[in-house]
Amino acid sequence: MIYKKTFGKTEDFTPSKIKIESLIPVMENEEKFSNIEFTVGKRGVLLTISLKEQQDIYGFGLQMKVFSRTFGKVVTRNDADPKGTNGYAHASVPYFVTAKGKGYIIDTFRDVKFYIGNEKKQMRKEGAIADEGLKLTFDDIYRPQESDLFNITVEIPIAEGVDVYYIDANNLGDAVKEYVMLSGGGVLPPLWGLGVYYRCHADFSDKEVLDMVDYFKDNDIPLSVIGLEPGWQTHTYSCSYVWNPTRFPNPKGFIDKLTDKGVKLNLWEHAYTNANAPFYKEIYPYSGNFEVWKGLVPDFTMEEARKPFIEYHKQLTKQGVTGFKLDECDGSDNTGGWFFPDVSEFPSGVDGEVMHNAYGVLYQKTILNALKEPTFSEVRSTHLFCAPYPFAMYSDLYDIKDFVTACITSGFSGMLWSPELRDCKDKKDLLNRMQILVFSAQYIINAFYLNRAPWLEFDAEKEAKEILELRNSLVPYLYSAYVQYNKTGLPPVRALVVDYFDDVETHKLSDEYLFGESILVAPTFDASNSRTIYLPKGKWFNFYTGEEVPSGYSEFKGDKLPVFVKGDSIIPFATKEKGGTFNIKVKVYGDKGKFTLYSEDGKSFELDYNNGKLNAYGDSENFIIED
Ligand code: GAL
Repeated sequence: MIYKKTFGKTEDFTPSKIKIESLIPVMENEEKFSNIEFTVGKRGVLLTISLKEQQDIYGFGLQMKVFSRTFGKVVTRNDADPKGTNGYAHASVPYFVTAKGKGYIIDTFRDVKFYIGNEKKQMRKEGAIADEGLKLTFDDIYRPQESDLFNITVEIPIAEGVDVYYIDANNLGDAVKEYVMLSGGGVLPPLWGLGVYYRCHADFSDKEVLDMVDYFKDNDIPLSVIGLEPGWQTHTYSCSYVWNPTRFPNPKGFIDKLTDKGVKLNLWEHAYTNANAPFYKEIYPYSGNFEVWKGLVPDFTMEEARKPFIEYHKQLTKQGVTGFKLDECDGSDNTGGWFFPDVSEFPSGVDGEVMHNAYGVLYQKTILNALKEPTFSEVRSTHLFCAPYPFAMYSDLYDIKDFVTACITSGFSGMLWSPELRDCKDKKDLLNRMQILVFSAQYIINAFYLNRAPWLEFDAEKEAKEILELRNSLVPYLYSAYVQYNKTGLPPVRALVVDYFDDVETHKLSDEYLFGESILVAPTFDASNSRTIYLPKGKWFNFYTGEEVPSGYSEFKGDKLPVFVKGDSIIPFATKEKGGTFNIKVKVYGDKGKFTLYSEDGKSFELDYNNGKLNAYGDSENFIIED
């Protein structure tokens, strides 16, 4: 159940004001908020949420460094360079959930400060805490304190009030699902969006891009989407959004050739509008009072700014562009000056701090209006309630551990993360990263500064091709996971604690995750393929060999990325695809198993394996089951 309460006088522009309609009722019940103290003071709004007992807290958006917290300060502020543990992230949001299934959403775009575990002064009896004794070592002094109350103090600058949503579920999994349904349900991308994306060198011409596509096709290497980086435009940083006539003299002809080859096109851009953009003058009055890369910052809260931007982009989608990569909508306090400051003023009256955190959401909403057909695109920042948007996130940071942490944490906040491949240290690193990508929300090879496919540098074409084929074979399985995301809110990629909240070992398990209904991934960071794994109670099998693997903790060594399948499940592998029809080979892990396949028309197909026999039936005609 989700409850909402308004504290004080709320601001005009908040995440819930621009969110998609909820798919779950929102109730009112004063009692559910009796543990929250609210005041407005010189520093803005102060809320003290009393959770009574200390517990692990998850969420706060796409966290790349921290899995869960029981103490400390978190600042929710979007940042392009989130190298610390303070909460800054590409999508840093004021929302958290506990393993017990209680969640709080603070409905604001402001930079919220959460002080977790700090207790207010209280009269203590002399000797009441004497049993803790003397603390004389650093370890003792700075060890996380056991809290006897566990309060979370929330500070919202400037505001005089706020809406708070309280998720009152029985467990973490249900709380996450309810958050996603409150947001409007999880996105269901088009099938083509689950295949392989290859982003070409920023400098490539149309001929070089088409040659790259031919390289994939000639070698039977899976490819679904081609991405163009800044060089397709006449001016970037800031953007003109105009095709570069030297590199792309005939955009429509170029896109038609891609379409003939069965490949979709995605264009890189950011929103900072160069004076050479055809709609520059139109949006000039409807942009902020600071420039970024000498370009305008459109005030996307205003129809007057959105309209010319959308109308112009419609010309690109009419030519056949099927998606955009929305870059640079996060900005950074840690590096560079390529963002508008918090003191910026926008014609709508929204201030720079709010616009900063809202910019990725507004940009996504705007560009979606320019697209003719469903997309699965990319964005570098987002915020609360964005689960229904067809965008996955990415980063310029490239630490493999951070990338895996993002795979694991993104699901708590209804976000999708793409641990994209760029270049690599060596062949092992390349193959390890490529395998992790197989088990991720979106498969992107971002070769924006490479002339050749990255595997060619390491003489690894054969291995790379096999890995990309594995991804392709899992597309029907993953699509079904997205259907569940859409219908129930269960994220396709998620931490183990989401499904196994009863198992306390999973509460701090920060280096394994679930992919779809029954696959568990325990990545290695050094490509050794060996590590300590934890498998919850029950039967588990090696994904590749089908051999049984013990539950609990064990040392694991394999030839490939450690991946396991829950006992008594079946996985459908596509061996061939033509025009949306898949040949499916079923692999059985255990004695029995069921799986529902979905096709894009919404029809379904049941697979039921029992007593050594597979029953396959349903109204979808898009699946041909092989023996
Ligand atoms: C970065 C982005 C990269 C790439 C690059 C091109 O901001 O994160 O993925 O697109 O720009 O200049």
